Amino acid sequence: MELIIYPTNRLIDYATTDSEQTGRQKMEYKNISLAFEGEIGILMINRPKSLNALNIETLKDIQMGIQEVKEHPEVKVLILTGAGEKAFVAGADITEMKGMNSLQAVQFSKLGHLTLRMIQDLDRPVIAAVNGFALGGGTEIALACDFIYASENARFGLPEVTLGIFPGFGGTQRLPRLIGKGKAKELILTGKTISAEEASQMGIVNRVFPQDSLMGETKKVATQIVANGAIGVRLAKMVMDTGFNMDLEEACTLESYAFGIGFATEDQKEGMTAFVEKRKPNFKGR
Ligand code: CAA
Repeated sequence: MELIIYPTNRLIDYATTDSEQTGRQKMEYKNISLAFEGEIGILMINRPKSLNALNIETLKDIQMGIQEVKEHPEVKVLILTGAGEKAFVAGADITEMKGMNSLQAVQFSKLGHLTLRMIQDLDRPVIAAVNGFALGGGTEIALACDFIYASENARFGLPEVTLGIFPGFGGTQRLPRLIGKGKAKELILTGKTISAEEASQMGIVNRVFPQDSLMGETKKVATQIVANGAIGVRLAKMVMDTGFNMDLEEACTLESYAFGIGFATEDQKEGMTAFVEKRKPNFKGR
């Protein structure tokens, strides 16, 4: 039995039998599942009895899940979703938060931030497939993804003020950056929830699908991304995220250097040769 220490200081047991059989180490999670379908990873938050609410254990499971994806370079896109048909994530776990003192609340918020940051910083696109309630921490974790698709029954909102608190997993920061301060303040200060369609009109959600086709449609888009040069996709994500908080001139300089790195790859040669030869490129991700 091998023990590995992760940044969360949690010790993880690896199932030796799985690793012996497959050559890969199989992680064991309590509140998430992680599946690999070819080059697409699917991380499902799985606590349906609590509508997939984010307690400490679940946040740590998500961190380990992201870490596992990092260890699988063949995975080119990650889809983040929730178990069941009712909820994506109904927020941070209120029963766990109820008894927290200030210091514990700071630590809980920081744990949420670290977890969402790991999602945001994953060097591959992450698509949120929001299949039901995405409230509080649910909207916040979706906002940490690169973009959001939703089912028709999904509902979004940051209802924390109705609990006597306010959003603590980045909602006060990521939402204004995405939709502007005025619209974000309206949502956060009223605590009202909105439909997937309204979220789409506000620019929170990219596309809305009937619930039974959400995963299929999300996988189709993931497959489109997978077919592209993986290094170009990663660089584009990095430049967009890093450049977003820089002034335009510095961000464009960053873009130029990252653009140049793309020309040191086999994929650039293959992509442009394939265009000239009028055939489909066969990208290798190197
Ligand atoms: N935390 C803990 N448990 C939760 C939960 C949450 N956020 N949301 C739902 N649950 C539990 C319920 O307590 C209930 O458990 P029991 O069956 O043991 O009673 C179960 O999930 C089913 O929920 P409901 O019976 O309430 O289902 P409903 O269909 O009547 O309502 C809902 C669904 C509208 C999503 C409602 O559950 C709800 O309002 N949930 C809380 C939403 C919320 O306020 N989220 C913000 C949390 S605070 C936060 O996220 C802070 C932050 O930024 C870090």
